[in-house]
Amino acid sequence: MDVTLNIRRFDPGVPQPESYWQSFDVSIEDNGTVLDALIKIREDTDGTLSLRCSCRSSICGSCAVRINGHAGLACKLQASAVMGDDNVITVEPAGVMPVVKDLVVDFEPFWEKIRAVKPYLQPQGLEPESEYIASNESMLHLSSVTACIMCGACVSDCTVLEVDPTFLGPAALAKAYRFTADPRDGDTDGVSKERLQDLTQATGMWDCTRCTECVTACPKGVAPMDRIMALRDQAIAAGLTNSNGARHAEVFGELVGHSGRLDELKLPVKTVGMFNIPAMLGFLPVGIRALIHGKMPSPIHKNIEGVEGFRRLYKKAEEAGEE
Ligand code: FES
Repeated sequence: MDVTLNIRRFDPGVPQPESYWQSFDVSIEDNGTVLDALIKIREDTDGTLSLRCSCRSSICGSCAVRINGHAGLACKLQASAVMGDDNVITVEPAGVMPVVKDLVVDFEPFWEKIRAVKPYLQPQGLEPESEYIASNESMLHLSSVTACIMCGACVSDCTVLEVDPTFLGPAALAKAYRFTADPRDGDTDGVSKERLQDLTQATGMWDCTRCTECVTACPKGVAPMDRIMALRDQAIAAGLTNSNGARHAEVFGELVGHSGRLDELKLPVKTVGMFNIPAMLGFLPVGIRALIHGKMPSPIHKNIEGVEGFRRLYKKAEEAGEE
């Protein structure tokens, strides 16, 4: 099978390095993967092409790159499944992390965030007399999170990290959930809420915008965004509601449950508190821009027909959620 790989390259060894695109035509087996094509190019055409790989079996997580604009494992994706009608596949380094050379990125920011969530079980205080017991159900529940191979695909495509590098990000937060949901972890299981408390701080669980890119990108079905939502539920259940994120969620539900619509004018004001002068002043520039561009939501809303029925449904859903 003939395929053309359009590869984004970067060589730090030249003066004033800049990334550029380079096309390679290559012949691979019909069932060959994108990684097979990349390796063939490196072996037969251009030995200077830098890429990372090891297992070639979706296990080590080292071959994550952007293929046709989305992160994925080059060793998992068959070239025939991702190439267009013109047989072209675009390959770029993973996003968000700094590029070292060609398709190789610097994972240090990734590991820094994993380390920040203390990715190990915290002791439960006194040494146990025997081993910690965990139910089969609790371990089965964790099995999909522990499937993470740390490839960085979710981080690459995280839209929040793209604009805010301080966000802990989907991989680290999913890793944190692996411990907050583990009954053997002393830091969340009744002994201390420290772990969850840390994660509710700015740059933590409440900064996810639920774009679902990480869920799409993850090659192992970890669904990091779902873990972040579960972390939020855990935090609220633990009474950690004194944060803008938790209040935002609460006010969002309150407004929609009452009027059947999201009042975008009240939402930020009620989230930070009307008498929170510094925060209110902080909204001014956005408010002025919204006014100038005609995007300021109207403070007057018409009643929605049949909203009583919606309210009843909403209340039932809330009660079911509490149960
Ligand atoms: Fe190991 Fe792709 S080479 S996951």
